[in-house]
Amino acid sequence: MDLCQSLAPEVRAEIHCAWLEFGLLCFRDQQLSAAEQAAFAAGFGALDVYPFMKGSDAHPNVIDIIKEASSVTNFGGLWHTDTSYLLQPPKATVLYAVEVPAVGGDTLFADARAAYDDLPAELRDELADARGVFSPSLVHGQGGAYASEAAQADLGERYGGNADRAEDEVEHPLFRTHPDTGRKSIYCSLAHTVRIVGMSREASLPLLSELAAHATSERYVARLRWTPGTLAIWDNRCLFHYALNDYHGQRRYMRRVIVRGDRPF
Ligand code: SIN
Repeated sequence: MDLCQSLAPEVRAEIHCAWLEFGLLCFRDQQLSAAEQAAFAAGFGALDVYPFMKGSDAHPNVIDIIKEASSVTNFGGLWHTDTSYLLQPPKATVLYAVEVPAVGGDTLFADARAAYDDLPAELRDELADARGVFSPSLVHGQGGAYASEAAQADLGERYGGNADRAEDEVEHPLFRTHPDTGRKSIYCSLAHTVRIVGMSREASLPLLSELAAHATSERYVARLRWTPGTLAIWDNRCLFHYALNDYHGQRRYMRRVIVRGDRPF
């Protein structure tokens, strides 16, 4: 499949169905400019702007995720689902590999639907209506994972901006329902969920940790090995992902576009 070409409606529909079913699709050997990648992503809905990294001047919706050979911190190196701290987090992420390390730099994906289905019934019932406070602060705030000068230098000069939004908080359910499939999945994460509504952070952490450990246990995880020209699209409403940081001394260059989603329910 050549994603530069405009796709017939029935092909688009088939891709969309497969995406809803599997959560992650991967297309090898593509040759896409930023504009072509954005056009493909726009087939899934309105594009969004990532708040903490500036897009290119020509394509504000497209961000470059680059880890230089000299860098230590990588972008997305923790289990999360993209920008779940927004009121309307993105439903899809479209990530394209421009340059990949000879070894390492894979991305892991965890199926939060299967993890939800396998939760002990008592825990599912106990937390059925529970909501979490989600915030970018744990990653982008003062004291967050990317707070040090060294980390910020590694993430590049386009990282940052919107510092006044880094401590924002929104509430989402811990378990969300997929608006298209009706399936439930675990949605909270240690990366973005500060606490459970009505509980202190200290009291919330054991539960959040238990859910995170369960959702990302090996039986739910798939591993994507990138090659230059690989394009992946995943469903942020039901998958977690983790960019492995096991390739120090090598360069990795990815391009990312996000597609706006609904408010989780
Ligand atoms: C991300 O978290 O969106 C980046 C994932 C990756 O670079 O593999």
